[in-house]
Amino acid sequence: EQIEKGGYEHFMLKEIFEQPKSIHDTLRGRLLVEEGIIKMAGIWDHLERLNQAQKITIIACGTSWHAGLIGEYLIEEFARIPVEVEYASEFRYRNPIITDKDIVIAISQSGETADTMAAIKMAKEKGAFVYGICNVVDSSISRVTDAGSYTHAGPEIGVASTKAFTSQLTVLSLIALKLGKHNGNLSNQEFMRLITELDALPKKVEEVLETTNDIVKDIAKHFIGAQNFLYLGRGYNFPAALEGALKLKEISYIHAEGYPAAEMKHGPIALIDENMPIVIIAPKQGHYDKIVSNVQEIKARKGKIIALVNKGDTQVASVADYVIEFPETSECFSPIIASIPLQLLAYYIAVYRGANVDQPRNLAKSVTVE
Ligand code: G6P
Repeated sequence: EQIEKGGYEHFMLKEIFEQPKSIHDTLRGRLLVEEGIIKMAGIWDHLERLNQAQKITIIACGTSWHAGLIGEYLIEEFARIPVEVEYASEFRYRNPIITDKDIVIAISQSGETADTMAAIKMAKEKGAFVYGICNVVDSSISRVTDAGSYTHAGPEIGVASTKAFTSQLTVLSLIALKLGKHNGNLSNQEFMRLITELDALPKKVEEVLETTNDIVKDIAKHFIGAQNFLYLGRGYNFPAALEGALKLKEISYIHAEGYPAAEMKHGPIALIDENMPIVIIAPKQGHYDKIVSNVQEIKARKGKIIALVNKGDTQVASVADYVIEFPETSECFSPIIASIPLQLLAYYIAVYRGANVDQPRNLAKSVTVE
């Protein structure tokens, strides 16, 4: 097992550090920047059907559901097709309106999650075309779907999903950009700009790992005794906040909640005092001014602010108690980079608390029960 961990203390840390490679592997052979194309057989073979969809419903569980929420933002922004995101376990037990004009996208790392499987079966019975995004090759979900794309993140052993999540976001980005390019909603110039950014992600992820690991490890020490955590973000980074909170809950057993920063005033603000740590994702691209005022509201109530900002930020950084800098990218790709320090933060807090990070209590890597 030590050999499999490749010199890392835990699989989770190894998998966090594998992300420059796993994202590169997700893009490999698909993103051809010089030719200006995205090559994805699964999408290409069914392009018309996908682009004529009345609506797309994304179904998933856990971390994959968070990827789905970001998928909604991506597909609606670039392909302009209406998207809904549902927990597979809710979808399957109600009577959702799904017809043969619908596309259902099922996202699953393991490809074995029982609720997602059952939801796919129901969607197919209602005539939908089901597209799978799985990590495990030849898994049950990848076999029952009508078409799909693998994430190619490689085996993920740690129960808390890390590299599979960022690869899911990468695949969803490719799909959204490809659909948008072909249905005319994305200009060639904008498409080129975005694929160039996408191509730069593995390098930026490598940079964020190198520059933030020690800083995050140090910050984590201050929060070993925390009982609650709040994670806030806006736009694309609202689901990233949900995922950051889930990571912490799963492995450190600290209660954590993710929230859209603007919704703070409708509840969570009542919880803020000097004992409440608040992680706020505040990249330059993405409602920055609004985030600045959220940060000030938190500061006025003495909350402990851990801010994720772009390199060189001064405005949020001057108010925050702890600052984590990450490289700038388009707002739509920022969750991929911002997720890395959030994974590290959860990891180090859990390690300091002596928790079993690779096998957290009560959790399973693949949930095949209903
Ligand atoms: C379990 C795992 C999570 C995962 C979820 C969905 O809860 O512990 O990490 O996100 O199942 O799994 P899937 O394999 O369908 O993505």
